[in-house]
Amino acid sequence: MRIAVVKETRDAESRVAMVPELVGKLTGLGYEVVVEPDAGKHALIADDEYLEAGATIDAEAITSADVVLSVQPLPPDSVRRLRQGTATFSFLPVNQELALIADLRDVGVTSFAMELVPRISRAQSMDALSSQALVSGYRCAIVAAGMLRRFFPLNMTAAGTVQPAEVVVLGAGVAGLQAIATSKRLGAVVKAYDVRAAAAEEIRSMGAKAIELELETLEGAGGYAREMTEDRAARQMELLTPYIAAADALITTAAVPGRQAPRLVTAAMVEQMKPGSVVVDLAAETGGNVEGALPGEVVRIGNAQVWGGKNVPSQMPGPASKLYAQNLVNIVTLMTTTDEDGVGRFTPDFDDEIVAGSCVTHGGEVRHAATREALEGGSAS
Ligand code: NAI
Repeated sequence: MRIAVVKETRDAESRVAMVPELVGKLTGLGYEVVVEPDAGKHALIADDEYLEAGATIDAEAITSADVVLSVQPLPPDSVRRLRQGTATFSFLPVNQELALIADLRDVGVTSFAMELVPRISRAQSMDALSSQALVSGYRCAIVAAGMLRRFFPLNMTAAGTVQPAEVVVLGAGVAGLQAIATSKRLGAVVKAYDVRAAAAEEIRSMGAKAIELELETLEGAGGYAREMTEDRAARQMELLTPYIAAADALITTAAVPGRQAPRLVTAAMVEQMKPGSVVVDLAAETGGNVEGALPGEVVRIGNAQVWGGKNVPSQMPGPASKLYAQNLVNIVTLMTTTDEDGVGRFTPDFDDEIVAGSCVTHGGEVRHAATREALEGGSAS
């Protein structure tokens, strides 16, 4: 059986879904690995490295593949070139990709969305949301440190003492905790806030101060946050204002699954920041935690430079690709049976909650209930 690795074409995507050092894991399962030419180019991986790892290079890799690996969803013309029964693994934001999902269904593709992998202990090694959030969180802290025209750490020198920078992080999930850890490693004084009750202890475990507001916590399903009411949002903004005004760098990473990113900071709050301060909004692409932040741009608001994140994991394509590729190897392994002769067969068990939970289309049907309902509602069939 053949696994194809796609050259990404969407949205200046620099990552690649498989790295040479993990090709051996797939051939070891009994697959033949076929990579599209230049697939790793933007992650600084040459075709020769895939060849040396035991893969072949073929521009038509997907047309004869049993399994197709990509980072972004396949373009519609690629989906139409797949054979019936081919399995695809990629990020596939179901609420934004209804037309593509209808194509995947109609071609008879078995498609898996990496963001739908259930967040249970057994699936941690397949959790691409977490692996990519880790990269994003690190990158946010480094961007803030790079933009700030002062030290992050305390410096005590013969010429005098330079005080450390004060960093405030809002949203302390996977990305936020990594931003905290990285800012701490660089020596900043870090304060952080999250609406989940468990977050305060996690923030403290990273060596940061947990900002405690006199507000109820907002726990949703599966350990995620719930959306705020307007009153709650206004009160949270009011209580956070003095912390933000005192910060040299503000990093925001808040998200609520399936919703626009919550607005945590108004332009008026940013205008209270000191000259030279910086704001890094990881959520700029999904609506923005900070009013006025634009994805992929640096804008000036008051005295602050505001950096809006755009496909942030792709800004560190090497490590992001390696972690994502490892997630894929783990999920493909779960769905593979290797026989005594070393031949691999793709045998997903739909009674397994990881398989069932992450499957979007199979056998000419949409398996993901909310997406099926959206399609049956006529939005994109
Ligand atoms: P996320 O990317 O959906 O959200 C980021 C953070 O924003 C979350 O911590 C959330 O509480 C916070 N947030 C939302 N609204 C906010 C607001 N109004 N103000 C301040 N903060 C706000 O979350 P992520 O990073 O994907 O994970 C969040 C949680 O999911 C984890 O802490 C954990 O409970 C669970 N998780 C479980 C995993 C597993 O079991 N395999 C793996 C990763 C996460």
